[in-house]
Amino acid sequence: MASVLIREAKEGDCGNILRLIRELAEYEKLSDQVKISEEALRADGFGENPFYHCLVAEILPAPGEPQGPCVVGYGLYYFIYSTWKGRNIYLEDIYVKPEYRGHGIGSKIIKKVAEVALDKGCSQFRLSVLDWNKRAMDLYKALGAQDLTEAEGWHSFRFEGEAMRELAGK
Ligand SMILES: CC(C)(COP(=O)(O)OP(=O)(O)OC[C@H]1O[C@@H](n2cnc3c(N)ncnc32)[C@H](O)[C@@H]1OP(=O)(O)O)[C@@H](O)C(=O)NCCC(=O)NCCS
Repeated sequence: MASVLIREAKEGDCGNILRLIRELAEYEKLSDQVKISEEALRADGFGENPFYHCLVAEILPAPGEPQGPCVVGYGLYYFIYSTWKGRNIYLEDIYVKPEYRGHGIGSKIIKKVAEVALDKGCSQFRLSVLDWNKRAMDLYKALGAQDLTEAEGWHSFRFEGEAMRELAGK
């Protein structure tokens, strides 16, 4: 395969990132949950206080090939805080287009996130995965991650929409 570059996303990548976000949601059978727009991705990732950071995997054409570089995967992360362990990084999404899987691109993205985490003084690198996504779970375990549901019994919760407005009285 041609060479792959894992690099920080630029604002101009947001269109590609949004397409990949939609592909991942489709893979996860939760497409109806995607409400984000390219404008929101631009504003939230590339303003003064970014809410997230993103890595993209770009295939670089071999010398002499006519087509330009092509984004085939992404890893979107942000920083969270643990009252037990201090600084943490959270990988919200990781996705590689089907035709580019199995060549180490996903692992490269994960390794880069680990590198960023250590550079920023984080002691933990966290992520979540749907219970049926066995192949992704096996990959994370093979790379050294611990399954917190298995080990400690955590459940993931969220407040949203009406429940949130009711809580806030708005
Ligand atoms: C998980 C994913 C990002 C890994 O990327 P990748 O570039 O294929 O990863 P690597 O080449 O470094 O590792 C390959 C391993 O990923 C595993 N894998 C996980 N999900 C897979 C999938 N849907 N298709 C193919 N391989 C997958 C394979 O088992 C493979 O292990 P093997 O080589 O021992 O068979 C990619 O497969 C993907 O985008 N999957 C669909 C979306 C997804 O599940 N995202 C994670 C949500 S939490």
